[in-house]
Amino acid sequence: TALVKVMIDAVRKAARGLTRDFGELGELQVSRKGPGDFVSAADLKAEQVLFEALTAARPGYGFLGEERGLIEGTDKTHTWIADPLDGTTNFLHAIPHFAVTVALEREGQIVAGVTYNPATNELYWAERGKGCFLNDKRLRVAARRDLIDSVLATGIPFAAKPGHAQFLKELHQMSTKVSGIRRFGSAALDLAYVAAGRFDGYWERNINRWDMAAGLLMITEAGGVVSDADGGKDPMGAGSVLVANADLHPLVLERLRAAS
Ligand code: IPD
Ligand code: CA
Ligand code: CA
Ligand code: CA
Repeated sequence: TALVKVMIDAVRKAARGLTRDFGELGELQVSRKGPGDFVSAADLKAEQVLFEALTAARPGYGFLGEERGLIEGTDKTHTWIADPLDGTTNFLHAIPHFAVTVALEREGQIVAGVTYNPATNELYWAERGKGCFLNDKRLRVAARRDLIDSVLATGIPFAAKPGHAQFLKELHQMSTKVSGIRRFGSAALDLAYVAAGRFDGYWERNINRWDMAAGLLMITEAGGVVSDADGGKDPMGAGSVLVANADLHPLVLERLRAAS
């Protein structure tokens, strides 16, 4: 649709800058927001490109981005939620696993989401009621029913974040019950991978709205179940997430509960 096209164009434009900077990492200005928490000129530039492209196409919409926070618009019913570079740590280490991700929130509901990994040219997108796609292929969450057959993704809190002890307890509860756990370093791509049936599930605490806004819609549009990491209904409000298919979701939640 026209809306998704606007989002895809903006995301691809921001990604072109990232791809250029990825090739010249030595020249990139980098600063530290906290221990282990970096931001580079590439993050800032990509956020500016997204803001300009989306605002040009839909004047008046609000814009919430990781680096500049909320820029209010005149239209109070629509807000873009964007992470210009999800996976900054990977990016700065020349690991080709990072993404540009944007969602549109309308009256508190995510109605469209796009996540793009320029290194693999994989473009994930979803629109409420219309499904979830990888490039032009329709996506569906994996069908595995048993925890022991499943591969889960998670995030390890970086140094400045709280929750390290809790994370280790959860890892301990989980790792003897599943066939594998992965930490790839981009929450937006973790969610897209679950929508694509690559990962069977994903949980993480202490993450932000812009990490998950697009991906949560991808999960529901791909037939999966979404909650916060304690089973609550509002992951964006809670700042934590658990996604899986309908069979595995309660089983993963049970392991998380056993850790708390
Ligand atoms: C981070 C990534 C990472 C997750 C962190 C996020 P950033 O985002 O999504 O996978 O574990 O919680 O902060 O800072 O690279 O945009
Ligand atoms: Ca960051
Ligand atoms: Ca992020
Ligand atoms: Ca980011």
